[in-house]
Amino acid sequence: MKVAVIPGDGIGPEVVAVTVPLLERLVPLEVTELDWGSERWLREGAAMPADAVETARAHDAVLFGAVGRPDVPHDVPVWQLILRLRQSLDLYVNLRPVTSWPGLDGPLRDGADVDFVVVRENTEGEYAGMGGRSHVGTDDEVAVEVAVHTRRAVERVARYAFELAARRRGLVSLATKSNASRFGYPLWDEVVADVAARHPDVRLEQVFVDALAARMIERPRSLDVVLCSNLFGDILSDLAAPLQGGLGMAPSANLRPGGGAPGLFEPVHGSAPDIAGTGVANPCGCILSAALLLREAGEGEGAARLERAVGEAVLRVRTPDLGGGATTTELADAVAAAL
Ligand code: NAD
Ligand code: IPM
Ligand code: MN
Repeated sequence: MKVAVIPGDGIGPEVVAVTVPLLERLVPLEVTELDWGSERWLREGAAMPADAVETARAHDAVLFGAVGRPDVPHDVPVWQLILRLRQSLDLYVNLRPVTSWPGLDGPLRDGADVDFVVVRENTEGEYAGMGGRSHVGTDDEVAVEVAVHTRRAVERVARYAFELAARRRGLVSLATKSNASRFGYPLWDEVVADVAARHPDVRLEQVFVDALAARMIERPRSLDVVLCSNLFGDILSDLAAPLQGGLGMAPSANLRPGGGAPGLFEPVHGSAPDIAGTGVANPCGCILSAALLLREAGEGEGAARLERAVGEAVLRVRTPDLGGGATTTELADAVAAAL
């Protein structure tokens, strides 16, 4: 398998460095390491080369760490790298599974058994990059940020969510805000209802995103597939992270179902500048993203083995975010030993 690896910034390189050898134990791998990110921007004025998208396309999958560092404006690597890859490769599904791990503490009174997935629209919404500012610096300053919702994008991500729910427990919870939103989220509700009509095997419930946020903490087991727009999915997936043991445990896959582009697999967390360089980042979000990579590549058995190995490892070896004193390498070594 040809895998492009983008370690990125902060803890990105730390978690990626221990993930690649685990992946190599499970499948024959041809790795291309790419120095894209903030450091490249500081050096060369661009976070990625001009032909970056074609380079990514020449691979079967992309493994990505994280980007962002305090001495570079946050939007630079976000717009020049991560959003550019998601949008240019048209990776329209952002899949964020939420599973609890035996032994890891979470905010729930009774612990384990959370198992749902967030299916996040990944190309538009509040991330369309449309808008502008005028009268800058004056009392009359105006900023306009346009959220773009298209029938095509809502329909295709909804189709994916329903097909996924049909293979799971048969429930799609659509998180919108169509009481306050006049245009965008009413479109979501209508389009998703149309898709639901073609899937009698799956139940659709429309939930307001604010109420869903509370339910995710109060009754997370009532959820199966949570379908939402780009920004809502971003927020809800960080909200769900503590149910998994913390942000360090949460994986994600950026996918183009039906093919045409390599999937991009990345932990949900960012570059964590507050702990970068200290060697204690939890690598599990990245390792579990590699498991998603394997599953999408048709290596379901390898994916399951890697996930089981993570589950076994965190029973014994924990980084500080999980309440332990282990380093990134020690936790990764425990995963390797369990494998
Ligand atoms: P963050 O996810 O980097 O960190 C939030 C908190 O979680 C921090 O306290 C951090 O130490 C902790 N944390 C995150 N991952 C961890 C791990 N693996 N192990 C242990 N602790 C972990 O979010 P932020 O602080 O809001 O953002 C920092 C930078 O990352 C910003 O520049 C932001 O734009 C960027 N960012 C990038 C991505 C990405 O590349 N996909 C995602 C989110 C944020
Ligand atoms: C994520 C990140 C990104 C997002 C940022 C870095 C643009 O927070 O992958 O969740 O909002 O999608
Ligand atoms: Mn996020």
